[in-house]
Amino acid sequence: MNASDFSIVELGDPRLRQRARPVDLDDLAGVLPIADVMREWMDRRGGVGIAAPQIGVDLQMMIIASRPNQRYPDAPLMQPLLLLNPQPVRYGDNTIEEWEGCLSVPGLRGKVRRPDAVEIDFYDLHGKGHQLALTGFPARIFQHEYDHLIGMTFVDRVASVQDLVTEKVFLEQILPARQPVTAPAPL
Ligand code: NI
Repeated sequence: MNASDFSIVELGDPRLRQRARPVDLDDLAGVLPIADVMREWMDRRGGVGIAAPQIGVDLQMMIIASRPNQRYPDAPLMQPLLLLNPQPVRYGDNTIEEWEGCLSVPGLRGKVRRPDAVEIDFYDLHGKGHQLALTGFPARIFQHEYDHLIGMTFVDRVASVQDLVTEKVFLEQILPARQPVTAPAPL
């Protein structure tokens, strides 16, 4: 399995609009090569997360890879974490509005309100179950990627089309006007 045999699926493609199938935890042999391709495309595009449907693979798989940035200077620098069949279990009470981008929505940024914390269940490459509590930037990455597993994108989450801007306007007008400034990576 070669990364060049895949490409990033973009908004409007029906593969981004379906609910992904669960990974068969009794047959994990094919999962690592898929994860490697996801990782390759995430890195190529400088993303901090990716979901399998974004490379056209209909499976409940995601990688989250938080790293510090200007908006979340305390965001953990984490080793990319592969999550199989992830499920949100409980959301935090507080919500935060923040700009998001997406590998599958090139050229656009959107302001999205989401809970600032989420507790999740997931399985690892060996089929072992885990629980994890995420806050801040990693919680946002998870929720963004989870949307990809249920056929949604951040574009569906903006409160108004006025919360959508081009990358150019975001970088030239919105980013410089913000304090503290933010430079979110595509998810
Ligand atoms: Ni995305």
